[in-house]
Amino acid sequence: MTVSSQSSQHLMRNVPDSSIGSVLVTWYQKNKRALPWRQRFLESADPYVIWISEIMLQQTTIQAVLPAYERFLGVFPNLKALAAASEDQVRLACRGLGYYRRFRLMHEAAQVLAARQPFHWPRTFKEWRELPGIGDYTAAAVSSIAFQEVKAVVDGNVERVFCRLLDRRVVPDQKLKKEFQAIGDHLIPRTAPGDYNQAVMELGQTICIKQNPRCLVCPVQNYCAAYAAGSQNLAPAPRKPMEYEDVRMHLWLLLRDNKIGLVKRSKEARFLGGTLGLPTALEAEGRLRWEQAGHWNFEPDSFGSFKHSITRHKIQAFVHHKEWRGDAREMTWIPLDQAESQLVSNLDRKALHLFLGKFTQTS
Ligand code: ADE
Repeated sequence: MTVSSQSSQHLMRNVPDSSIGSVLVTWYQKNKRALPWRQRFLESADPYVIWISEIMLQQTTIQAVLPAYERFLGVFPNLKALAAASEDQVRLACRGLGYYRRFRLMHEAAQVLAARQPFHWPRTFKEWRELPGIGDYTAAAVSSIAFQEVKAVVDGNVERVFCRLLDRRVVPDQKLKKEFQAIGDHLIPRTAPGDYNQAVMELGQTICIKQNPRCLVCPVQNYCAAYAAGSQNLAPAPRKPMEYEDVRMHLWLLLRDNKIGLVKRSKEARFLGGTLGLPTALEAEGRLRWEQAGHWNFEPDSFGSFKHSITRHKIQAFVHHKEWRGDAREMTWIPLDQAESQLVSNLDRKALHLFLGKFTQTS
């Protein structure tokens, strides 16, 4: 059920009846999942716990975020602790989540905020938007959830929900996103903007899912044009499948006195720039290109390999093992039994697991 909008926001072709906002909020308040950031905010009213969760949830599933979130708040329980940390400490606390840039910017933002005299949190969408690493989505999410700012979020889930509500059988683009932003800002109830935003995202994650949406239990089924037309699988139109690039990579586990040697990848490395990890080289046209400053004479004689994806790269990683007798000063040596907790990237951890599975006995 849609009505034409008389709104000044000429961007909107049509909008669902605005009662949908309160229907979503009621549904959310009854059915919301007990996610740790919701619980923590309920107990502390600390915007910090919401901000951290929203940074982690960018491009990462809730399932992957859960363990990292608890670990992170254990290490940095508040803004002051985060602002005082070193970059390496932050990197380590975010290990396994990938896309490290967002955490570098979050750390930068923490330092900007902690330096404020007198201290005050940003409250509005506009104030959050001015911080490093905070885009429209995060500014809307944090300001609405923590400060009741009336600003709608539009993420991938919301785009899918709106495409179906309006039966828009197109691939979402920037123009459509703008239109959905205007529609969201029109629908969002002033009395519960944070709950509305979380409701639409949660609807997209649990009911209005990509394949086989669960329309029979959907709280807004009778507002949905795609449901009425039976076109849920056509709206939105599928994106072109991602074009993957194959990459051959080599990783070395260098051992010396039961310690493994880690090096810092250069900032310009193609993958995982700046991380402390296993010596790494990329193979192209039969030659090795190193990902860190050191260049060694290693033959590519791997004991095993595994597959790993980073963005649109399909990596075949070959793992090598050597007892190291060369200069030890070029590397950071970590006892083998602590390596798991010191390695920042999943790629390095996969290589370590392959090695441990092959070369060490479990009793
Ligand atoms: N995805 C990103 N932020 C979220 C939130 N606050 N609730 C549910 N899903 C989310």
